Amino acid sequence: MCQNTQNIEKKRVLSCIQPSGMLTLGNYLGALKNWVNMQDEFDCTFAVADLHAITVRQDPAKLRQQIYSTYALLLALGIDPEKNTLFIQSHVPQHAQLSWLLSCNTQFGEMSRMTQFKDKSLKHANNVNVGLFSYPVLMAADILLYKPDLVPVGADQKQHLEIARDIAIRFNNLYGDVFTVPEPYIAKTGARVMSLQDPFKKMSKSDENLNSWVAILDDKDTVIRKFKRAVTDSLGQVKFGEEQPGISNLITIYSAVTGKSVAEIEKEFEGKGYGDFKLAVGESVADALAPIKAAYDEIIKDKKALEVLYKEGAQKAEYVARKTYFKAMKKVGFVV
Ligand code: TRP
Repeated sequence: MCQNTQNIEKKRVLSCIQPSGMLTLGNYLGALKNWVNMQDEFDCTFAVADLHAITVRQDPAKLRQQIYSTYALLLALGIDPEKNTLFIQSHVPQHAQLSWLLSCNTQFGEMSRMTQFKDKSLKHANNVNVGLFSYPVLMAADILLYKPDLVPVGADQKQHLEIARDIAIRFNNLYGDVFTVPEPYIAKTGARVMSLQDPFKKMSKSDENLNSWVAILDDKDTVIRKFKRAVTDSLGQVKFGEEQPGISNLITIYSAVTGKSVAEIEKEFEGKGYGDFKLAVGESVADALAPIKAAYDEIIKDKKALEVLYKEGAQKAEYVARKTYFKAMKKVGFVV
């Protein structure tokens, strides 16, 4: 027997989620379910990226509530704060601090090319602040402080991860080895969930049509009602394919929630109408979300217990972040 097997180092993973509003079924099936699945295989660090949230105007009371709520929801989903490091970004000062060092090693031109900045500055035309512009630098700091091997991100964040890699490589070349250059992690499972009202748009909590998205914390009746109202197509059959974008989205969701394959699902609903199928999808989603909501309702009640966890999480995170930050400071030439 080899006693060392326990010591084989797991690969390190880092990811963060913004506490902006309600998290959706899309966030769950696209990203958070993977976080839960990664806990055993990897050494994971997860954070609520609250500093990122203020790049757009936030109501202070609501922001605070959403930070609590997002942290509690991650616990409710089953992320184990003992096994992983689970913390709130603003509690670890090195994120903002490293962000400054990295800012001075990032070019205006490369930030200007970020497509999300271009989109968001159009959307929030009356508040195109400097933070919105330099947001990818803060994200690079989030990542590089923890030296992760892998960073799970969705398609909309790939460009930001690329920049983080570029910044790390440039910094290492200039000052010597400080940062690990992370790879993107594309999960084996990870559904791209589209709006229930317009299957060409991604499901989004900022969609004004409330029937287009399902919150992880929606109650059973609401979930089922929204699926009953989901747009379908005109073929009249439960079949996956380009000609049926609405039904295909529902099949993707049903498959992600039940673990059934597309072929199995098509067979299950052969000869049945869209109505039966939509009800089945709604019920399966409601059943999957019910225990999460029940756990959340318990966790959010006990703010003291929550505080113990996020403080411990911040301590664990800072222990790692501080070392990387000091190394970077020293290399740049500061007196440390
Ligand atoms: N910018 C990401 C988003 O909006 C959230 C985020 C912040 C993040 N820091 C990160 C994701 C570091 C991965 C790694 O979704």
